[in-house]
Amino acid sequence: MQCVVLGSAAGGGYPQWNCRCSVCSLYWNGDPRVSRRTQSSIAISANGKDWVLLNCSPDIREQIGQLKQLQPNALRGSPIQAVVLTNGDIDHIGGLLSLREGTAFHLYGTKTVLETIEASPVFSVLDRRVVSISAFAIGERFSPLPDLRIEAFKVPGKVPLYLEGDSPNTELEGEFTVGLEVSDAAGKRLHYVPGCAKLTPELRRQLEGSDCLFFDGTLWRDDEMIAEGLGSKTGKRMGHMPLSGAEGSIEAFTRVNVARKFFIHINNTNPVHIKGSPEERATRNAGWDIAHDGMEIVL
Ligand code: MLT
Ligand code: MN
Ligand code: ZN
Repeated sequence: MQCVVLGSAAGGGYPQWNCRCSVCSLYWNGDPRVSRRTQSSIAISANGKDWVLLNCSPDIREQIGQLKQLQPNALRGSPIQAVVLTNGDIDHIGGLLSLREGTAFHLYGTKTVLETIEASPVFSVLDRRVVSISAFAIGERFSPLPDLRIEAFKVPGKVPLYLEGDSPNTELEGEFTVGLEVSDAAGKRLHYVPGCAKLTPELRRQLEGSDCLFFDGTLWRDDEMIAEGLGSKTGKRMGHMPLSGAEGSIEAFTRVNVARKFFIHINNTNPVHIKGSPEERATRNAGWDIAHDGMEIVL
């Protein structure tokens, strides 16, 4: 199995267009310790020719520009055969609007996420005569490409921001947010979990023994956005567990056996963007890597 990271940042990317928080300011000021990151998505292939995208960010056009593997392979044609969604957040579906020029691909999501997309007339640009749309159930295996199987599993999260009421359940387990397990003919297992509110015992069992995990790296600290003066939202309120602290993912994963683990979906305020920062070093010392755009992994 081959895997390419298209984008590694959370919604808004890094730096974010309207932000001068302490971490974005480093980029705007030309600090060599930080690099641009586009919004999160990965691509997977079993044969190096045909690719399936896990989520499709608003940065997809720029990501295709950076990655030879995904560039057009015919007068009109693309190696992108399928897109599989983990939820309906704008940073995960916005790029579908850029894939509208009449080339066939398959779109997969839970029934709930697909209904949300289909409820919006803007997404009717995905012409059903060329784009086939299929729902998967949690725990059901499907094959978006020969030799690759995908199965969705439950991950605590919340509804997309644009569907939130005043006080959404932020640890909802159901069809609004899922994780994806990709396995190949050799039995390798890769897990993609760009958003997660909590590592439940069930989720821990699901991820045990993974050959490669991409996990929610949104915030370093739960109150990071508040500390930066960017409003009142905690990570918990956004459905994201932080990396650090007793309730954080670094601590939670000390008891899970995973061969390679990467943080992805890194918010612009997260100091792990800064090479050599105490937070970046602590993350690496704990056995984690920080995904970056264009990163390639072979399993
Ligand atoms: C999230 O990851 O919490 C969402 O992408 C937030 C958003 O939609 O801006
Ligand atoms: Mn997001
Ligand atoms: Zn910022």
